[in-house]
Amino acid sequence: MNDTISFKLNGETIACPVSGAGTLLDLLRDTARLTSARPGCRIGRCGACTVLLDGEAVPACLVMTWQLAGRQVETVEGLQDDQDFLVVRDALARESALQCGYCTPGFAVSLVSGIRHQRSGQETDLGEAIAGNLCRCTGYGGLSRAIQRLTDSCCREDAAAGNDNDFSGD
Ligand code: FES
Ligand code: FES
Repeated sequence: MNDTISFKLNGETIACPVSGAGTLLDLLRDTARLTSARPGCRIGRCGACTVLLDGEAVPACLVMTWQLAGRQVETVEGLQDDQDFLVVRDALARESALQCGYCTPGFAVSLVSGIRHQRSGQETDLGEAIAGNLCRCTGYGGLSRAIQRLTDSCCREDAAAGNDNDFSGD
């Protein structure tokens, strides 16, 4: 199979040829030259390649290019001015939640998705949001503190808005 599809990548419509075995991860890195999504296991287990597909965090290594027609893909490169991403980036930086940094974009995308789920009432625990992400440097102490910081900040925003929802998961 060799065809052309179009989809939105970080807000821009792009058209590209697809082959039956091509993945979104390879398309991002080899064709679009966007390298925030990282190859790790390539079988959906490590989360290093996590991107947003129609707003949901997914491993790009498991999305075939032929599945992208008419879809919207967002990567860290396209989230640089996104308020949710900036809040996540700040929390990760303040809590030193990275060592080599290889896993960090995947964690950040999953946390952005988790925050958006919280806001829409779909999910209450940011720890769940990163359940599919692994850090081979085992930097989970910093990640844990960053999640606590994000959870506290969500609680404060919620209290300011007069909403009684408790995002702490207690
Ligand atoms: S490379 Fe995609 S989940 Fe590991
Ligand atoms: S910081 Fe190195 S893999 Fe997570």
